[in-house]
Order: sequence, then structure tokens, then C-alpha cells
Amino acid sequence: MKNTRAYISAIGMYVPEKRVTNDDMAHLIDTSDEWIRERTGICERRVVADGECNSDLSVKAIENCLSNSGVKAEEIDLLIVPTVTPDMVFPSTACLVQEKLGAKNAWGFDLSGACSGFLYGLATGAQFIQTGTYKKVVVVGTDVMTSIIDPQDRTTCVLFGDGAGAVLLEPTEDEGIGFLDFLLRADGSGGKFLHMPAGGSKIPASHETVDKRMHYVHQDGRTVFKFAVKYMTEVTSEILQRNGRVSADLTLFVPHQANLRIIKSTANRLRLREDQLAVNIERYANTTAATIPISLCEAFRKGRLKKGDLVALASFGAGFTWGSVLLRWGI
Ligand code: UT7
Repeated sequence: MKNTRAYISAIGMYVPEKRVTNDDMAHLIDTSDEWIRERTGICERRVVADGECNSDLSVKAIENCLSNSGVKAEEIDLLIVPTVTPDMVFPSTACLVQEKLGAKNAWGFDLSGACSGFLYGLATGAQFIQTGTYKKVVVVGTDVMTSIIDPQDRTTCVLFGDGAGAVLLEPTEDEGIGFLDFLLRADGSGGKFLHMPAGGSKIPASHETVDKRMHYVHQDGRTVFKFAVKYMTEVTSEILQRNGRVSADLTLFVPHQANLRIIKSTANRLRLREDQLAVNIERYANTTAATIPISLCEAFRKGRLKKGDLVALASFGAGFTWGSVLLRWGI
């Protein structure tokens, strides 16, 4: 009997039209284009229009993805929406997306994995394909980070943007393509270094929580930076090693886009060449669950990937959560 593997059969993305440059930010808070570029590599970010929300971005990214596949929304079996910025606490964004998209035969759920959400979602979706349970799973990493960043906190507000990236997973029996391995990790002791303190059952919303600015992202940037480099390097080395590969075998390495210095330090430690690296942080900043699918989508569209190419994805984010996915490109 042949093994069924999951593979990415289509990919798409959506970013809001509105661009906010570093100079625009410098008009609002005490920062500068020079500081942001040098410390993060970010030049501009996309920001939702008034009234535009997570499910709008998700639907546009999925429609873009499906338009490249010939698959109709009604054919989707399962919708996974990795995000930390759902439209609302409930119903799930997956349900709202299902309705707007007309994916009437799909069930779905949101997945809270922060910057690793997309990789957690890929691994989860692939299991449903590999067991033969489903034929068409959509994973859409989407975040509207501007809805939870403090516009007065220069240490966080310059770092994030809004966007969505979607993939369609389908089964294949072609041994030359598809998912090879997933390596996912979590360490809850890191939770305090990157979190949004209020709005959940621990500290429900009140006038006090609003006054204390507790519904915004709070981050110990230096600590997060240090662990991001260490863990993305370790997890990528380990996944390569246990699959009998070395970094030179990779056509493309797609890291989470949080800071260009994190990406470069990780790439140096993995001994990757610049032409193996997917980087687009300069245009979109950190879009949390969306950075990896957007980067992968852009790399594919630029002709940087062909069928059979070896690709590693790596993430690190709040939780702490981190992980790596190894695959052979299948489109
Ligand atoms: O996706 C989730 C994962 N998140 C990350 O991976 C983020 C990881 N961390 C980072 O990317 C970096 O730590 C930051 C970009 C957040 C900060 O860079 P840094 O080199 O670690 O700077 P710092 O926090 O040590 O701050 C250096 C200085 C401080 O001033 P003093 O104390 O030296 O006087 C900050 O107040 O830079 C100041 N600063 C700013 N100055 C101008 C902080 N933010 C800004 C700003 N503009 N926007």
C-alpha cells in the first residue's frame, strides 16, 4: 500500500492596502526611521481599514489561494485559523470565515499558537490528510496585530502589521513532494515575556484594565530575541539531522519574520547562504501567524521554488512556542 502524504497544493495571501511607513510612525511617537530599520529591518507595515477585521483578511487570502487551485469553497472539509486576534472571543473566526466564504461543508476552529500558530496549524491539518480522513484542508494564518498593540508604546507598536496567508492541503502519493516532518515545541514558563494580560477569564475586561493598558501586547524584547535565535536554530538543526539532511540541501528557509537581526543570526548559526533565505519583514513587519505563509507565497510567486525543492519553515513566538516543518515543494 502506498503512503499518503499531505502537500501544499495551492497558496495565497492578502495584505490590507494601507501602508504605514516608519516616517509615518515617527510623526506619532518618539521613534525614527533609522532606529526601526537598524534594530528590526522593518521599513513599512500594512494596516487594516476602519471596520476591516480578521475574517475579512482570512477570506481574501483563502479566495486568493483557491483561485490558483480550481477547488471551490464548498469542497473544503476543514478550516484551521491560527490567530491571536480573532474577530471576537466566540464564535470562532473559523465559523465566521466559513460563512463568508460559503464553505458550507467545512467545520473548523481557531488555533492559538501566536507566531508558531501557522506551523501548529499545518501539522494539525496534515494529520487529517495523512490519516485519509479528509481530502481538502485550508490553513489560514491571519492576524490584525494593530488591534492589540498600544499606539503609545514605541517598544511594540513599530514592530507589527496586519496580514493573512493561506494554504490548501491535499493528499498525494508522489513520494517526491509533500510534508516530510514536523517538530513542534512549547514552554509555558516563557508566557510572561510576551503576552496580553487582560480580556480573558483571569483578568476580565473592566474600566481598570483599559486604564492600565492591559489589552495590549506586552513584551520583554531582549529575552524574546535571545530565545528566538536559540530555539529556531536548534529546532531547524534537529529536524534536518533526523531526516538525514544538512542546511546546504535546502532551497529555501522560511523563518518567522519578527526581526531581521533574529533572522540573520539564525541563518548564520545554521550556515545558510543569503539566497536560501525568505525575507520580507521590510514590507510587512511582524504579522504573527501570517508571516510564514505570506513569505512562502511571495517566494513561490517570485519563481524561487520548483516541484521537489526542499523547504524548511521555522517559527518562534509567544507561549513560548516554536517549531520547524520540513517539506518538499509540490506545486
Ligand atoms: O513575534 C514574536 C516574537 N517577537 C520577537 O521576536 C521580538 C524580539 N525582540 C526584538 O526584536 C528586539 O528586542 C526589539 C526590536 C523589540 C528591541 O530591540 P533591542 O535592540 O533589543 O532594543 P532594546 O529593547 O534593548 O532598546 C534599546 C533602546 C532603549 O533605550 P535605552 O534604554 O537604551 O535608552 C529603548 O527605549 O532603544 C529604545 N527604543 C526605541 N527607540 C526608538 C525602543 N523602541 C524604540 C523605538 N524607537 N521604536
